[in-house]
Amino acid sequence: MKSETKNNAVVIRGLTYQYRINGSIVLKNIEFCIPKGEFTLVTGLSGCGKSTLCLCISGADELMNPDGILTGEVIINGKDIHKINAAERALEVGIVFQNMDTQLFSFTVEDEIAFAPENLCLPPEKIKERVDYLLNLLGIEYLRESHPHRLSGGEKSLVVLAAVLALDPPVVIMDEVMSQLDKKSKMRVIDVIRMLCDMGKTIIAVEHDIKAIESVHHIMVLQDGKLKSFRDLNGEDNTCHI
Ligand SMILES: Nc1ncnc2c1ncn2[C@@H]1O[C@H](COP(=O)(O)OP(=O)(O)O)[C@@H](O)[C@H]1O
Ligand SMILES: [Mg+2]
Repeated sequence: MKSETKNNAVVIRGLTYQYRINGSIVLKNIEFCIPKGEFTLVTGLSGCGKSTLCLCISGADELMNPDGILTGEVIINGKDIHKINAAERALEVGIVFQNMDTQLFSFTVEDEIAFAPENLCLPPEKIKERVDYLLNLLGIEYLRESHPHRLSGGEKSLVVLAAVLALDPPVVIMDEVMSQLDKKSKMRVIDVIRMLCDMGKTIIAVEHDIKAIESVHHIMVLQDGKLKSFRDLNGEDNTCHI
């Protein structure tokens, strides 16, 4: 067991979640910490609570499901994610939803990526620089003028990921982003994840194909809403003592 340090980007304490009052408990007393700059893969059978966990860590649970009942704490870089406002939250944590169609609403890919930084009133030349950089980083320059809703599933994932990275959040959550990607795009996303970790970002990704990703620091297994295990690639228990 690792002890909790100030270097943790993500600290989850006693997280329990129900979608509605008297509904079934979907997350059950989950506790873990993730140090800054590390990459955690989340896996487990369909329906075990992976997407719900992502939603709760991002703080988007309140927005997506106002009837939800969350107890426990989600601390991102020392801040309780449910006690800060949406703009502050967006600067701390970005999420690519499993159903990322709900995250696409612009008429061009370029506008989609520029949307969040524009909302935060970043200078136009900085935004342009960021859009160009991300289109190139994710290999989607050719989609710049395309309509986001007319893209393939894989292309949409890359566009949403670029839009999330446009705010440069220190914690990035990806819910099954790679499942729709072809081999080449998957390799690119894995390279991007590695680069983001080197830059000190903390990545949480839900994926099934864990063998494809060798640069991971922790593998979290969820089972029926409980944290079944949280280990490194050598099988050592990485659950922190909180
Ligand atoms: N919006 C919702 N309202 C009610 N129950 C939900 C909702 N979304 C998911 N669930 C339920 O929560 C449980 C966990 O779902 P989910 O987090 O999507 O699992 P996973 O991502 O591991 O497949 C499932 O039993 C699912 O039916
Ligand atoms: Mg899911």
